[in-house]
This record gives sequence, C-alpha cells and structure tokens, in this order.
Amino acid sequence: MATPLVYQAKAMSIKLILIAIAIAFFAIILVAFNHNTHSQPIKNESHESVIIPLPGGAVGPESFAFDGSGGGPYTGVSDGRIIRWRENENRWVDFAVTSPERNGCEGGHDNNIQMEHICGRPLGLRFNEKTGQLYIADAYMGLLVVGPNGGLATPVLKEADGVGLRFTNSLDIDQRSGVVYFTDSSSRYTRRNYISVIITSDNTGRLMKFDPSTNKTTLLLDNLKFPNGVSLSQNRDFLLFAETTTCRLYKYWLKKPKSENLELITQLPGFPDNIKRNKNGEFWVGINSKRKKSTELLISNPWIGNALVRYIPIDFTKLYYRLVDLIGSNGMGIRLSVDGNVVEVLDSKRWKFVSEVEENNGSLWIGSVTRDFVIKEKV
Ligand SMILES: *[C@@H]1O[C@H](CO)[C@@H](O)[C@H](O)[C@H]1NC(C)=O
Ligand SMILES: *[C@@H]1O[C@H](CO)[C@@H](O)[C@H](O)[C@H]1NC(C)=O
Ligand SMILES: *[C@@H]1O[C@H](CO)[C@@H](O)[C@H](O)[C@H]1NC(C)=O
Repeated sequence: MATPLVYQAKAMSIKLILIAIAIAFFAIILVAFNHNTHSQPIKNESHESVIIPLPGGAVGPESFAFDGSGGGPYTGVSDGRIIRWRENENRWVDFAVTSPERNGCEGGHDNNIQMEHICGRPLGLRFNEKTGQLYIADAYMGLLVVGPNGGLATPVLKEADGVGLRFTNSLDIDQRSGVVYFTDSSSRYTRRNYISVIITSDNTGRLMKFDPSTNKTTLLLDNLKFPNGVSLSQNRDFLLFAETTTCRLYKYWLKKPKSENLELITQLPGFPDNIKRNKNGEFWVGINSKRKKSTELLISNPWIGNALVRYIPIDFTKLYYRLVDLIGSNGMGIRLSVDGNVVEVLDSKRWKFVSEVEENNGSLWIGSVTRDFVIKEKV
C-alpha cells in the first residue's frame, strides 16, 4: 500500500527540521568546547592511585595483557604499537606492531586517527600461556599473533565466512585448547567511526571462535549491535560478552543446544567495553561512560542517527567525546561474580572513557581509548 504523498512530504520535512536542530545543537557544542579531552589534568584523589604516562605522544591504552610470568602489562596504543611496562625499570618498552608500515605513524592523537588503518590499532590482547604467543585483535588488521619476543605480528585471520573483519575488537583464549574467542564489532563501520555503530543501531557485529589447531573459524552469533568485550568463564562453560549499543551483558553457553545458548545477564547503566576475568574467576567490565537521556533518544530512534551519519559531514566520534566532557560523565568498573552476577560498582571521578579494568597481582589497571596514561590503583 502506497503512503499518500502528503504524509511522506510531512515526514520528510519533520526529519529535515530535526536534522537542522541537531546540526545547530552540535555546532554550538563544537565551537564552545573545542579542546582536547585527553590533556586535561586529573585530580589525584586517592593515595593509592598512580598515573603512568604513555611514551611518545601515544594515547589510548585500550586493553591489557600480562605474560605467563606476570610481566607487563602489555597494551596497544593509538600509533599502532604494542608496548610493555617494565615495573622494576619504571618505563615502557616497545614490544610489537601489527603493520609493517611505520612511516608517519607517530605524531599525536589526531594524526594517529587518520593513519590507524595503515599503522594498525591493536585493541584486545591475550597471551596463550602454553606457547607464550600473544594474540591480538587489531581493529583494522584482523586477528594476529606474535611470538614471546615480539616484533612484527603475523596475520591469522582477515575475514570470516566471506565477510571481512572490519572492526576486530576483543578476544579471550581457552588456555587448555588454545581456541580464540573474539568479536568483530561491525561489518559496516570501522573503529574510527564507532559512534556511528551506536547511533545507527548497526547490527552487523559478530561473535566468533578460531581454533589454531585446525585453522577453522566458527561463527557463534551474528546480527549483534556492537559486540565488544568477551571473556571465557573459569570453568570454560560460557562466554560473557558485552553489547555496547544496547548496554547489555550476555552469557553465551558453550555446552547448550543452539536454541538455549544465549542468556541476557544484565542491563548496565553505561556503555560497556572490555571484560576481563581475575584470578578468582570474577569479571571486571569497563564502562566507557554513563548512558544519558540524550543518548537514549538517539539510540531508540536509529533513523535520526542514520540521517546524521548520512547527511552531516562531521566526526561524530570526536563530537561524542566533547559531549561526554561537557556533561561530565565518568567511566566505571563493574565487578561480576564467577556466575556473572553484579557484585560491585566502582564509580570513580578519576576515570573517564574507561575501556578496561584489569585486576592483576593486587592492582587494578584502568585503560582508556583516549587518555595518554594508564591508571594503576590498589584493589
Ligand atoms: C598520587 O598521590 C600519591 C600519594 O601522595 C603519590 O604517590 C602518587 O605519585 C600520586 N600520583 C600522581 C599521578 O600524582
Ligand atoms: C606482585 O606484587 C608484589 C608486591 O606488591 C611484587 O613484589 C611482585 O614482584 C609482583 N609480582 C609480579 C609478577 O609482578
Ligand atoms: C594453519 O595456517 C598456518 C598459516 O597459514 C599454517 O602454517 C598451519 O600449518 C595451518 N595449520 C593447519 C592445521 O592447517
């Protein structure tokens, strides 16, 4: 049945008006708050908190990994390097890269964002404790692996089921079998445009597994809205994964029939990023920022986001950071029990744009996608 033309016209003009309002609103914010988010000083409220600056103008220590002997953390940063913290020398050293191309990769945050499809952008990291190899989920280069001495990583997977890995994000490893579980956050948008994934309610994300002993990749779930952090349970019976757009945590049961394997655990108060298991089998979920009414409006009306992304030539990811700064939303860490129930919510003013909370040897390591430092706090 055809919609009468007059209604179509009316709907069109309403959309245009809304788009105009959105442009005006965003323009005001852009002009009024044109500063770098990552260079703001952070108040040292706690005596137990240490701020460790990153080397060489890099930002965005997104995820951490510790090697088999507890060394590290290792973290991937905005210029494509994976660097390693040497605690006793109190400094970072270069460990690995995901792209052979290093020309023009340095030069600060804005340059890094322009270059990240060439230089690589390592996100999820995890060591295979038996082989000492570090597996890397790189947002542009797919799944890679590098030996215990680092250097240039070797590509393992660039596509799955005939669809390219466009935004490989997080991974975990079954330390017994060596199987790698990982997420590809979108088949449509790259990391650089990740706010577009959220505001258009993109549902092209996938949860997959890769078995190095057979080189076989298996699709576990598709049609996900920004699948992000993934973590295997201590008993290896389920995966916990975060869906960023919907602010949800899910369990994917590995030993149940397909019809029963997905279980919604909780709706979070903010946008979840990585999930890391501690040595007791509990999980830490990093929350980038709280979900506010304004973002609620965008998310429940994906046509607005689609129109904005299609017709308005601005960088929504950058804009988002300014907005979050403006409304002063801080990040959080949420601790879940072994079974995946929420047991603690850490809401710290010192934390912003939190990508990961990793507990290791009595400390919490707080990562972020925009900051130029790592925070280490006593548990
Ligand atoms: C925070 O305060 C503690 C104790 O005063 C100090 O040891 C630590 O270095 C401070 N961190 C920063 C980044 O200033
Ligand atoms: C764990 O922390 C203790 C002190 O807090 C330190 O002496 C030890 O070297 C650390 N272990 C590793 C593997 O870093
Ligand atoms: C998997 O692929 C790698 C790299 O292409 C190759 O070296 C290895 O032999 C393959 N393993 C199997 C079991 O096919």
